[in-house]
Amino acid sequence: MEPRGYGFLLLLLHILRPVIALEETIIVSKLGDNATLSCIYRGRELHLKNLRVYWQIADDQEECSVVHALISGQDNESEQCIHFKNRTQLFWDGLENGDFSLLLLNVSQSDERTYKCVVLQKTEYTRVIHQAKVVLTLAASYSQPILSGPIRNSDSTGEEVTFSCKSGNGYPEPNVYWINKTDNSHLLPSELKIIPHADGTYSVFSTLKVKATSNMQIECSIENKILRENLSANYTQQMQSNGSSTESHKNLEKNGRGAQAACVISIIIGIGLLVGLTCWLWRRRSFKLLSYTDVQTNEDKGGLNSPV
Ligand SMILES: *[C@@H]1O[C@H](CO)[C@@H](O)[C@H](O)[C@H]1NC(C)=O
Ligand SMILES: *[C@@H]1O[C@H](CO)[C@@H](O)[C@H](O)[C@H]1NC(C)=O
Ligand SMILES: *[C@@H]1O[C@H](CO)[C@@H](O)[C@H](O)[C@H]1NC(C)=O
Ligand SMILES: *[C@@H]1O[C@H](CO)[C@@H](O)[C@H](O)[C@H]1NC(C)=O
Ligand SMILES: *[C@@H]1O[C@H](CO)[C@@H](O)[C@H](O)[C@H]1NC(C)=O
Ligand SMILES: *[C@@H]1O[C@H](CO)[C@@H](O)[C@H](O)[C@H]1NC(C)=O
Ligand SMILES: *[C@@H]1O[C@H](CO)[C@@H](O)[C@H](O)[C@H]1NC(C)=O
Ligand SMILES: *[C@@H]1O[C@H](CO)[C@@H](O)[C@H](O)[C@H]1NC(C)=O
Repeated sequence: MEPRGYGFLLLLLHILRPVIALEETIIVSKLGDNATLSCIYRGRELHLKNLRVYWQIADDQEECSVVHALISGQDNESEQCIHFKNRTQLFWDGLENGDFSLLLLNVSQSDERTYKCVVLQKTEYTRVIHQAKVVLTLAASYSQPILSGPIRNSDSTGEEVTFSCKSGNGYPEPNVYWINKTDNSHLLPSELKIIPHADGTYSVFSTLKVKATSNMQIECSIENKILRENLSANYTQQMQSNGSSTESHKNLEKNGRGAQAACVISIIIGIGLLVGLTCWLWRRRSFKLLSYTDVQTNEDKGGLNSPV
């Protein structure tokens, strides 16, 4: 047993590994989108008739692994897994130039796998001329978070308040950050709920309990690690010139459309209230008349029937 020899062998393996390992691409796709799994061979001219192209799930343990097969220039569905039926397409314009990329339609969580593209050429004998691995990762953007609060906690001593923050329709699970914007320190949430939905997305709900201070500036941020997306909503307590800090003010990023909608809604509500008020006044007038006559007839009846 010579330790030196052993070490040398390890070193050799280490050097060889990058040569043996397949090139592996990571593709990020949004739920419901079409994903292109790329597999491009840059070699000499190809004749489709001599080629077999297999797209398969890289994991060998799989019961059914054929995603797409192209045999002698024709799609062959005989071994394709049911899960991929009618959901795969090759790019016909590119095949002869060595572009064997696969279009996978309407991707869902169950497509989050590692795929392998194997290209075989049959001349005198059959050999593998190209292989590629593609890791498909799914993602969906979270909705603009909605920050509410502060709500004063009645059951606590002191000036403790609660903020809550919610968002949804995202994938994968998010990271939630509560930030004290005064010094950019992170605050610990008192509650964090991540709820999975049937469509595979998550919604998130978090609350933060803090001691109320003057000039509070709190931000809730929802991070989608895969999309490298941080969506945030913030709360800013505005100090008034005379020292009272009553007015609060919430700021949402991308709030243009929200503000517009709120405007329209308040106009509609305003009109509604006006119409309601007019109706009410009108009804009240007629009701008064009605009740007046009612009372009168009752009194009349009473006068007639009561056995005084
Ligand atoms: C995916 O491809 C199909 C068929 O080519 C097309 O009808 C559909 O609009 C595409 N979907 C998206 C999200 O691009
Ligand atoms: C698909 O391939 C099988 C064998 O791999 C073959 O028997 C069958 O004829 C092929 N089908 C088509 C439509 O090419
Ligand atoms: C694929 O499409 C064909 C024709 O449009 C249809 O008959 C078949 O049921 C579809 N298969 C699946 C698994 O959706
Ligand atoms: C996409 O796939 C989902 C299930 O993963 C299905 O509910 C939906 O109808 C599909 N959409 C289209 C356009 O095929
Ligand atoms: C935020 O940071 C400021 C400055 O460090 C601090 O005075 C204040 O108490 C912090 N607010 C909360 C809610 O932790
Ligand atoms: C999102 O915000 C958090 C908290 O500020 C930060 O740690 C993280 O790096 C941000 N992520 C991205 C992708 O910007
Ligand atoms: C502070 O100013 C606001 C208007 O800016 C006023 O409504 C409020 O009564 C004032 N408070 C005190 C304590 O003066
Ligand atoms: C809150 O968000 C608004 C809108 O993006 C931004 O202009 C403002 O600077 C933010 N406030 C703080 C304290 O981060």
